[in-house]
Amino acid sequence: MSSNIVWHDQSVSHEERQKIKGHKPLVLWFTGLSGSGKSTIANAVERKLAELSVHSYLLDGDNVRHGLNKDLGFSDTDRIENIRRIGEVSNLMAEAGLVVLTAFISPFRSDRQLVRELVGAERFVEVFIDTPLEVCEQRDPKGLYKKARTGEIKHFTGIDSAYEAPQQPDIHVQTAEADIETCAERIVEALKSSFKL
Ligand code: PPS
Repeated sequence: MSSNIVWHDQSVSHEERQKIKGHKPLVLWFTGLSGSGKSTIANAVERKLAELSVHSYLLDGDNVRHGLNKDLGFSDTDRIENIRRIGEVSNLMAEAGLVVLTAFISPFRSDRQLVRELVGAERFVEVFIDTPLEVCEQRDPKGLYKKARTGEIKHFTGIDSAYEAPQQPDIHVQTAEADIETCAERIVEALKSSFKL
């Protein structure tokens, strides 16, 4: 961090922002392998939140890598920086009062833990989209697993780059056992009952 930087307090409080929005801010952090269904389920959850008049915004892996993080690749160092930046952006959006949904592989436990600490445990909800590697590989919606197996893509998550599954996710969804709509419904119900949305 540069020196000679001073933090400014703001005159509008969290409570006032929450009152204006009519709901609490949250960061719904979806994590899972490529092809696990993170983006699809996060989209379905966001649609349901919109129907409940919840002001939300979805940050999606592929999209963010076209803009904010277009300078980053898939080395461990770049993935760590990817998640750090998304964590900071999510925190700012939550500070503004939104329910933020993020759909990134976010393969490392320590990075997800850092975001939890940044955002605050009371606002951070880790949603594990638990789809076995064999199922993701069978789906292979973008043909990336095939390329990873032939060595055309290096450092592919689950093949030659690690994925550290959450040990105690706040919400655990097993997509091999339920369809998108059911998964989204369960997540929204959990947000209402356990996270007082
Ligand atoms: S990470 O690990 O959180 O920094 O990754 P993320 O920003 O979510 O980007 C994942 C999407 O990038 C595509 N892609 C790869 N994924 C994993 N490993 C490698 N090497 C790779 N190269 C490209 C892939 O489409 C991922 O999208 P999803 O939606 O997860 O399938």
